[in-house]
Amino acid sequence: METLTEQKINYETYLQIDKLLSAQQLLSSHHDEMLFILIHQIYELWFKELLHELEEVIRCFQNGNIQRSIKVLKRIETIQSVLIKQIDVLETMTPTEFATFRDNLRPASGFQSVQFREVEFMSGLKNPKFLKFFEAFPALKERLEKRLASPTLYDYFLRLLKSQGFNIPETVLNRDVSTPYEANDDVLKVIQSIYQEFNRYGDLYLLCEALLNYDEQFNFWRYRHVKMVERTIGMKTGTGGSTGAQYLASTLTDQFFPELWKVRDLIGSY
Ligand code: HEM
Repeated sequence: METLTEQKINYETYLQIDKLLSAQQLLSSHHDEMLFILIHQIYELWFKELLHELEEVIRCFQNGNIQRSIKVLKRIETIQSVLIKQIDVLETMTPTEFATFRDNLRPASGFQSVQFREVEFMSGLKNPKFLKFFEAFPALKERLEKRLASPTLYDYFLRLLKSQGFNIPETVLNRDVSTPYEANDDVLKVIQSIYQEFNRYGDLYLLCEALLNYDEQFNFWRYRHVKMVERTIGMKTGTGGSTGAQYLASTLTDQFFPELWKVRDLIGSY
């Protein structure tokens, strides 16, 4: 018979700490490799939580629950600020320290983070070229293909606007969701009216701003990552075969929700 202490929830077993703490398999004896592995694993845990919360935002949009979607986006933004800040820790590793064990990692690369790409696909950056990095992992490729074929956060946002009586064109609502979203003038006018009539559409205005914060924070992470890459490996090519910092810098202009940026051009005088 189980004793009282065995029946109680146990910190170790509930959180599966043994599994977590046995997942750091170093390939070198270099002191800094532990930090390198742990920080990536920590990112992956946070990416898991981000996907979980983004799915909740979509559910809120489907249920017309604007207030809760703003609350969940606030949590997402807070997690993002942690993701950005964490780069400070990795920057305490010098280029020489990283160079000591970098060659062992080839051809492993951030390109193979399925969760990062899932976040991007969900948020609107649909680019099938990234599927090729998962050829050796059919289950992961399938996950990503599902995200590619599913409507994005913004598609659900536009459906929410339609359900609130706004004029979102049928061509936009029935678009091929596996392709990148193309900005639309009618949608832009809807967003403009939300921004210009705060007293009438206050909740939707706050939601637009919460989405914009998410988009902007993602960009801040990209910026910190490319700068960290530059100061650690300079302009060398990446272990995943890209041009490295040069490629990463080209992603700095990526936007999840172009109309939420574009609307600023239309407000006020030139
Ligand atoms: C010393 C530390 C790091 C270096 C030198 C580095 C370097 C790079 C480079 C050169 C690329 C371009 C792809 C390639 O050719 O491999 C890349 C992509 C990427 N890295 Fe890092 N990285 C570092 C740390 C991290 C960390 C901590 C994360 C957290 C998850 C991360 C996530 C990613 C992701 C998701 C991509 C794909 C980005 C995209 O396609 O837009 N990296 N990294």
